[in-house]
Amino acid sequence: SVGDGFSSGLLAWFDHSGRHDLPWQHPRTPYRVWLSEIMLQQTQVRTAAPYFERFVAALPDVPALAGAPQEQVLALWSGLGYYARARNLHAAAQRCVEIHDGDLPRDLDALVALPGIGRSTAAAILAQAWGDRHAILDGNVKRVLARYHGIEGWPGRPAVEKQLWALAENHLPHERLADYTQAQMDLGATLCTRANPACVLCPLRDGCVARIEGRTGELPTARPT
Ligand code: ADE
Repeated sequence: SVGDGFSSGLLAWFDHSGRHDLPWQHPRTPYRVWLSEIMLQQTQVRTAAPYFERFVAALPDVPALAGAPQEQVLALWSGLGYYARARNLHAAAQRCVEIHDGDLPRDLDALVALPGIGRSTAAAILAQAWGDRHAILDGNVKRVLARYHGIEGWPGRPAVEKQLWALAENHLPHERLADYTQAQMDLGATLCTRANPACVLCPLRDGCVARIEGRTGELPTARPT
């Protein structure tokens, strides 16, 4: 839990090695954070960044997106793939105009009720846009937690996923939730990678079960075939 060094280690690492100049961080509005999280669900930061810039230049806020023709939204998405993401984004913006006064709701369940937003994405939006205290659990964070705690079993299994959510909640700090959220994603993307993690550079190495036991190659457990 808080005080075990997990969040403090991550935050100190984030200060010197995290990503601080991503386009959606300046300015960090709920709309821009939402759009970035949807783009980053299946697309790398490097690829998504220029699409993000074009998209927010053309459609700068929720009402603009809601009122745009679907062809414009799809054209701005063209090249990113997974076009259901763009259709859901468009539909969600229209719902926000209809029932949330043209804003994204500052509420986890209300966000999850919108098309294309799952629990982890909703949490990432609230933590990054408002600093609200919610745990995220995307693929990168699952890998970090499974290794750190030596959790066996495929993380897609409901029982394993439930355990990982509980660990993610236990590690939540009480401050700097936006930085903490970004730090976890950055660690998973840059150091705690699936193949050849850079444990020597990792702020969590001293407490990481997988590193201590030489099992980073076996954790997280692969999907059963
Ligand atoms: N993947 C999902 N959200 C992300 C973020 N905010 N930064 C980097 N990668 C991400």
